[in-house]
Amino acid sequence: MLSRIVRPTLTAARNFSTSQQNNYKVTVCGAAGGIGQPLSLLLKLNPLVTELNCYDIAPFTPGVACDLSHIETASKVKGFAGQESLKDALNSADVVVIPAGVPRKPGMTRDDLFGSNASVVKTIFECASVACPDAIFCIITNPVNSCVPIACEVLKKANKLNPRRVFGVSTLDIVRANTFVGEMCGVNPKEVNVPVIGGHSGITIVPLFSRATPKVTIPADKLDALTKRVQEAGTEVVKAKAGHGSATLSMAYSGARFANNVMRALMGEPDVIECAYVMADVTDVDYFASPVKLGKCGIEQNCGVGDINEYETKLLCDALEQLKRDIQKGVDFANQDQ
Ligand code: NAI
Repeated sequence: MLSRIVRPTLTAARNFSTSQQNNYKVTVCGAAGGIGQPLSLLLKLNPLVTELNCYDIAPFTPGVACDLSHIETASKVKGFAGQESLKDALNSADVVVIPAGVPRKPGMTRDDLFGSNASVVKTIFECASVACPDAIFCIITNPVNSCVPIACEVLKKANKLNPRRVFGVSTLDIVRANTFVGEMCGVNPKEVNVPVIGGHSGITIVPLFSRATPKVTIPADKLDALTKRVQEAGTEVVKAKAGHGSATLSMAYSGARFANNVMRALMGEPDVIECAYVMADVTDVDYFASPVKLGKCGIEQNCGVGDINEYETKLLCDALEQLKRDIQKGVDFANQDQ
């Protein structure tokens, strides 16, 4: 049973004493983009981050870094533009957050991004396997369901794979589920925790309202619509932005929340649990999103699927079929030129 999902405190320093490292070097790949810029801003405000490397192929990336560097927090910001600077940007990073790549336009699925984004992820991980193989990797780039397998296959080929340290960031699904349940049930969304398992696209997103805390009762006639809303929330944003990108601000918040929790766990804070899409053996597929307990080495324990009801079991069965295909696509891509 999910005990606790830890919420981020982006501004307050931790007040428990520890002799552990609490100064982290974080690299954002795709830092000049719609997600990358506000995400880098939130990381610049995080007292656990002491070095922030902003990398992007966009030539104005040093400008983004310069802008951030004027903020009165202690961390040092550096900008890196162009692929030739990727190695320097990644060098000895503790945490790498990756929102690099193309976002959806109206009418596109996340899988439609595979053609553009698969090679972006492959290139970054080929370099990371040399520059920072021991980092914690947080992959935001879509399609997450296939990009995480690509990353793991690339690291595996380089003999550097530590599956405890490679994450697909599905936090936005949890954030959305919390918000929608809070609105529907008249509870402050900050107090709501809805675990979301499966993957990060359409029917692979499986919200577990039966496991929400505090306990909520979703009326039977609203359950389908609420489930669909969480599954299609990204498309809701894509449509509303009408050709000007997908979720960026809520994703930046979610990415910062995830990275913050990773760092809290790295420095030894106990009981940090977040849902994430990771290499796992908790179902029939090799990659799966579920609550994971984070620790000093990355994933300390995968909490698996846990108790779910009949409705959620049916959703999960459909999700697994799709996930299998998405995962295979990523694995095949990573190994196609072997
Ligand atoms: P954007 O187009 O605004 O920014 C992407 C940035 O990546 C650009 O600055 C671009 O120059 C950079 N980039 C492209 N190729 C690169 C490469 N090879 N190396 C380094 N940087 C590169 O897109 P946005 O809105 O920031 O979205 C980024 C990704 O995040 C998309 O794939 C999108 O689908 C995904 N996303 C994931 C979510 C999740 O929940 N995991 C939620 C929302 C978006």
